[in-house]
Order: sequence, then structure tokens, then C-alpha cells
Amino acid sequence: MLRTTALAGALGVCLATGVAFAQAEPDNAIKYRQTIYETLGANLTAVVMNLKGEVSFPDAVGVHARTVADTAPLVLPAMEQDTAGRGSAETEALDKIWDNWDDFTAKAEDMQAAAVRLAELAQGDDMQAIGAQVQELGGTCKSCHDEYRD
Ligand code: HEC
Repeated sequence: MLRTTALAGALGVCLATGVAFAQAEPDNAIKYRQTIYETLGANLTAVVMNLKGEVSFPDAVGVHARTVADTAPLVLPAMEQDTAGRGSAETEALDKIWDNWDDFTAKAEDMQAAAVRLAELAQGDDMQAIGAQVQELGGTCKSCHDEYRD
């Protein structure tokens, strides 16, 4: 019991709220969340390049779409740590994210749902539908960036 408590303390686990949430160094928290967003961006770009015919890797479209859908749920946990005014890593995240967490969460969940739908469609070969869903998903990225990214 003592050992568990000490470990929880060392990890900064927030037992009071029942949420297992380890605080990282602010700069590491910032860099980590940016890698999550970069993964989303890179894989969405890869889908779009294929749809536009700039490259032709039809078998890869489903993999990229699934990667976006698999990565989407990592956004909220990675964003949970409030870094407003902390650390020195460059960040475009606006401080108001953590004052408007419910709205930020809703936007992340909209993105997640759109990504799951894209991954489903990308199992098939209806390029029209896939393209439309890429637009839909892109809209959910933009709606969060407009509000919460500098
Ligand atoms: C719920 C809000 C939210 C959603 C949804 C969202 N983003 Fe972002 N995104 C952010 C924030 C905030 C940052 C700034 C992070 C930072 O600099 O610390 C960011 C940054 C980025 C970056 C730059 C990362 C870097 O290295 O600085 C890319 C690329 C990106 N997002 C792509 C996407 C894509 C693609 C989607 C949709 C599939 C998406 N984002 C959806 C909030 C969001």
C-alpha cells in the first residue's frame, strides 16, 4: 500500500479525481501532443495525395485512414495537461483551451467520429464518398484550429 502510494505520488497521478494522469515536463507534453497532430496531418495528406492522383498507392489509403482514426483518440489525453504559461517549447495552442475544455472536447470528438467514418469508407473503393468524407474531416480539423490554435 505504502509502495503504491509512493509510486502514485512519484508519477503525479491524480488520485483525488480518480483520473490516472501523469504530469510530464511541460516541454515534453507540448512536443508529444505536436507529434500526435503531425501524425494526423501526415496521414491525411497521404490520403489526399492519393485521391488527387498525385501518387498512386490505392492499397495504402485504407492504412492512412485507419492511422488517422487510430490516432484521433490520442488527442484529448495528450492535450489534458494544461501548459498555459508553462515551459519554453514553441506552441500554437491557445491558453483558452483549458478554460473551454468541454468545447475543446466536443471538437476533438467530432474529429474522431469523422475519422472513424473515413476509415470505414476507405475500406471500399467509392472514391467520391471517400473524398467527401475527407472534406468533412478536414472541416473538423479547421473548426478547432480556428478557435484554439494560434
Ligand atoms: C480539438 C482541437 C483540434 C482538432 C480537432 C485538430 N487539431 Fe490540429 N492542432 C490543435 C492544436 C491546439 C494545435 C497546436 C498544438 C501545439 O502547438 O502545441 C494543433 C496543431 C496541429 C498541427 C501542427 C503540429 C506541430 O508540429 O506544431 C498539425 C499538422 C495539425 N494540428 C493537424 C490536424 C489535423 C490534420 C486534424 C484533423 C484530422 C487536426 N489537427 C485536428 C487542435 C486541434
